[in-house]
Amino acid sequence: MRVLSGIQPTGNLHLGNYLGAIRNWVRMQEEMPAADAATGSADSRCFFFLADLHSISEHLAPADRLRNVREMTAALVACGIDPDRSVLFNQARVPAHAEMQWLLNGTARMGWLNRMTQFKDKAGKNKEGASIALFTYPVLQAADVLLYQATHVPVGEDQKQHLELTRDIAIKFNADFDVELFTIPDPYIPKQTARIMSLRDGTAKMSKSDPSDMSRINLTDDDDTLVQKVRKARTDPEPIPADPAELEGRAEATNLIDIYAAFSGQDRAAICAAFGGQGFGAFKPALADLLVHHLAPIRDRYVALKDDDAALDAILVKGAGKAAEAAAPTLKGAYEAMGLMR
Ligand code: ADP
Ligand code: TRP
Repeated sequence: MRVLSGIQPTGNLHLGNYLGAIRNWVRMQEEMPAADAATGSADSRCFFFLADLHSISEHLAPADRLRNVREMTAALVACGIDPDRSVLFNQARVPAHAEMQWLLNGTARMGWLNRMTQFKDKAGKNKEGASIALFTYPVLQAADVLLYQATHVPVGEDQKQHLELTRDIAIKFNADFDVELFTIPDPYIPKQTARIMSLRDGTAKMSKSDPSDMSRINLTDDDDTLVQKVRKARTDPEPIPADPAELEGRAEATNLIDIYAAFSGQDRAAICAAFGGQGFGAFKPALADLLVHHLAPIRDRYVALKDDDAALDAILVKGAGKAAEAAAPTLKGAYEAMGLMR
């Protein structure tokens, strides 16, 4: 079993990023047996990386890109990714990713990429003005996965199509060159992944791009801000139902209960049984307590680390060394299979 996943390095991390992506990685790391330090075996390690090469598909000031990579690294470590147990790195420091992408460009088909919904969504009406990187983004993603012979790739629903393309590329490459070079990976969509909604509008997802800061819980929010945001979160005048089926049509209420569920480990039914009949005036302080309890330690670690550029770069350099070593045999195998090297 080889777990691998990447995340786009964006700034302003919020509760949605944590519950929707980062926490799943931490869980997978915890489920893997510790790497065998004595033999130096890397078999049981998870590979997690910042997709900074992917980020060039949209223009960004260089200083912002660098900052985002470091901030995301600090957030991952603060949330529990242990750089000694997992291999944590950024793509740009491991040239094998760019090399493998170029080799896979020979296998990927225009027709396959033309079907990718993320390109269509992101390019919108301006297809002619979109970067080539935005179009070939899924081929780089395939390179990321195939280089490490990943078997399990934890991702959100929206990345399933890219993983299917990765499988298609791997199968065609193996067949075209008559090799068994690439492991065929499986997307792994964790069951308990919460989709966290805005605190101001239960139909919009919590996002860094929402203009209202009151709509989201940031990983940097202090305790008072957390309490304020929960207190001011939009709800409806009805009490919490004793039966979770009655949450139907109450998006804001459902979202607060789901956030409570994500941190307490209880399901909606248990929470409704406990708070049924009570108003949000009683529920919100309990939710705020729970958030402060779980997020304060993460925030404190994050704030302590996020501006320590030297420490963050050292983590990434060390991770990149381990990643490059793990990727090298597959890259060599691809050059050889294609008759580019022997
Ligand atoms: P944003 O919407 O703030 O721009 P990104 O698109 O950068 O967030 O998402 C980074 C990661 O966090 C992705 O894996 C995405 O699935 C996850 N994520 C972002 N927002 C949410 C949310 N509201 N609920 C659950 N997961 C989310
Ligand atoms: N495209 C993914 C996203 O936007 C990030 C990513 C890049 C990734 N390379 C990957 C995820 C390889 C899994 C495996 O969320």
